[in-house]
Amino acid sequence: QLAELIRAEVPVPQWPADWFAIDHNIRRADVLLGMPLAPGAAIAAALARGAQAMLDDMKRSNLRGRGGAGFAAGLKWELCRNATGSIPGTAPGSTHYVVCNADEGEPGTFKDRVLLARHADEVFEGMTVAALVIGARQGLLYLRGEYRYLLEHLQAVLQRRRDQNLLGSAILGRAGFDFDIAIHVGAGAYVCGEESALIESLEGKRGTPRIRPPFPVEQGYLGQPTIVNNVETFCAASHIAAQGGAWWAGIGTHQSTGTKIHSVSGDCERPGLYEYPFGTRIDQILEDCGARDTQAVQVGGPSGVCLSAFEFDRRIAFEDVPSAGAFMVFDCTRDMFEVARNFAHFFAHESCGFCTPCRVGTALVVKRLDKLANATGGGRGSRHDLDVLFELDLLLHGTTHCGLGASACNPLRDTIIKFRPAYERRLESLHFEPGFDLDAELS
Ligand code: NAI
Repeated sequence: QLAELIRAEVPVPQWPADWFAIDHNIRRADVLLGMPLAPGAAIAAALARGAQAMLDDMKRSNLRGRGGAGFAAGLKWELCRNATGSIPGTAPGSTHYVVCNADEGEPGTFKDRVLLARHADEVFEGMTVAALVIGARQGLLYLRGEYRYLLEHLQAVLQRRRDQNLLGSAILGRAGFDFDIAIHVGAGAYVCGEESALIESLEGKRGTPRIRPPFPVEQGYLGQPTIVNNVETFCAASHIAAQGGAWWAGIGTHQSTGTKIHSVSGDCERPGLYEYPFGTRIDQILEDCGARDTQAVQVGGPSGVCLSAFEFDRRIAFEDVPSAGAFMVFDCTRDMFEVARNFAHFFAHESCGFCTPCRVGTALVVKRLDKLANATGGGRGSRHDLDVLFELDLLLHGTTHCGLGASACNPLRDTIIKFRPAYERRLESLHFEPGFDLDAELS
C-alpha cells in the first residue's frame, strides 16, 4: 500500500507533442510493425496445434530473446515447462508464471514503448501462448515507471481481451485454459530491467539482482518457475504461433532468425523505428535513416558496442553485432570522449549500490573522466588516468554482482580504443597554471 502511495506521487510526464512523431519510420521488413494480427488469431492457432506442438514450433523458429542476450526462447519455455513448482498438491504448471519485461531502460531504446502503444494485443497474445505452453495461470507485465502514461491504455486492452474471452477462464472455450495478466508499474530504476531484480521488485522488494543460477525458469517469481521475456520477444512469439516456426526461421540468418526492431536516434534525418531482418549491415541502416558524416554508432545502447566507421560493413546479428535495440548515431561533430563520459554518469547514477565494485567502481570512472574533462585549464589529467580507467574496466568486468556493473565500462573501453584522439586531446591540452605547485600536488 505504501509503495502504491509513493508511486501515486510520481508525476505523469507530459511528453512533447512530437514525442510520438516516430511514425515516419521506414519499415523494411514490415513484420512485427507492419502485420497486425487479429486478436485471438495466435491463441487459436496455438490451441489447434496443442501445447507440445506449439513448443516444438517455437524451437523450430529459433527465436532468440530480444532483450539483448539472445537466449533461445523455445529452450527457455521448455526448461520452464519441465521445471517443478515447489507448492505441494498443485497441478503441473499451475504455479508457473509468465513475466513480460517492459522495463525498457537502456538509453536510446524506445521500441518496446511503441509496441506497447500500438501492438499491445500481440504482446499479450504472445504471453498467453507462452502460458498455454507451460501451463501458467498468471502473467505479469512489468511496466517501466516512465511508461506509466501507457497504463490506462494497456488496462483497457486487457479488459477488452477478457471480454473477448482471450483472457480469464476457459480461454476461447478451452476448458482448463485459464490465464490472466496483471500490470506492475516500476519506479524508474534501470537495474530492474535485469530479470532477477525485476522479479524482486515484482515481489515488493528492493530491486537487487539475485545470484543466478538458479535461473527464473526454475526459481523465479515467488520462487516458482517463471518465463521472463522481453516485449518484442512475446510479440514475435504471437506471429510465430500464427504463421509457424518455419516461416520465422526463413527470415534473417541461420543463427539469428526473424527480424529485429531498432530504435534509431541521434544525428540522422529520419530517426524512428526500423525493422530489419537479422543480417542487415550497419551502413544500410545509416543510409535509410539519412545519417551523414557518421563517426560512430552505439549499437544496443551504452551496455552494447560502439562501432567506428571501419566497422559499418558489419551486420546486426547475434553472430556479429548483437543488439538489444538501440541504434544511436554520432556524426563527426560529436566529441566521443563526452559521449563516454555521459554514459559513465548514467551508470554511476543507476548503480543499485548493492556490490562494492559497481557502487565504487562506477563512481571512480566518473571521477577520472571528469578530471580529464576538466584538464583544459586545470592541467589535472594525465596518461596515468587512462591506465587507471583501463584497470577499472577490467575490475568491473570481473567482479560485479550483475551485468550493470560488468557492462558499465563498455562505452569507455570502446571509445578509448577506437576514438583515441578524443582522449589525447584532453591530454594534449594539459598544462599548468602559473603558480601551480606540482610537487605539493603529488605529495
Ligand atoms: P544472460 O545471458 O545471463 O540471460 C539471458 C536470458 O537467458 C535470461 O532470461 C536467463 O534467465 C536465461 N538463461 C541464461 N542461461 C540460462 C540457463 N542455463 N538456463 C535457463 N535460462 C538461462 O543475460 P542477462 O544478464 O539476463 O542480460 C544481459 C543482456 O541484457 C546483455 O546482452 C545486455 O545487452 C542486455 N541489456 C538490455 C537492456 C535493455 O534495456 N533491453 C539493458 C541492459 C542490458
